[in-house]
Amino acid sequence: MKHTATLLLFLSAVVAQSASAQTLTPQQARGRMILTQNCNICHLPQNPGSETYGPRLSKTSANGDDNLMKEVIQNGLVRMPGWKYTLKDSEISDIIAYVRTLPEPPAPTSKGGGGAE
Ligand code: HEC
Repeated sequence: MKHTATLLLFLSAVVAQSASAQTLTPQQARGRMILTQNCNICHLPQNPGSETYGPRLSKTSANGDDNLMKEVIQNGLVRMPGWKYTLKDSEISDIIAYVRTLPEPPAPTSKGGGGAE
């Protein structure tokens, strides 16, 4: 009894925390998890400020075209593996839904400190 209450308290804290960080739909949240598990190694900096192997993913990835993005994820590209045997169609859709919530990454810092907007 007491344990259940503690667990519930813990769970609601976790839910509240992730909800406040960003309001994601359940699909986008699933996408974020799949992305974290499979794609971050190449698409997010492993250390603050370090280079990524692949381009940063954002709502403008694959020209903002969901169909093209799906194809890229399924078949891969020159230096990127394809995922059609690893991820289900629905999982790829989840990833795309999440990536579309990500803002465009800032342009690479140029000499003089950006401000190119
Ligand atoms: C082994 C490293 C690696 C992994 C893992 C990887 N990618 Fe990539 N990805 C790349 C590289 C590198 C590119 C750039 C194109 C190229 O050189 O092949 C790319 C390009 C892309 C693009 C096209 C971006 C654009 O704007 O055109 C998308 C979308 C993408 N990846 C999504 C994903 C997703 C989703 C996953 C996880 C399921 C993933 N990638 C996993 C390396 C990777």
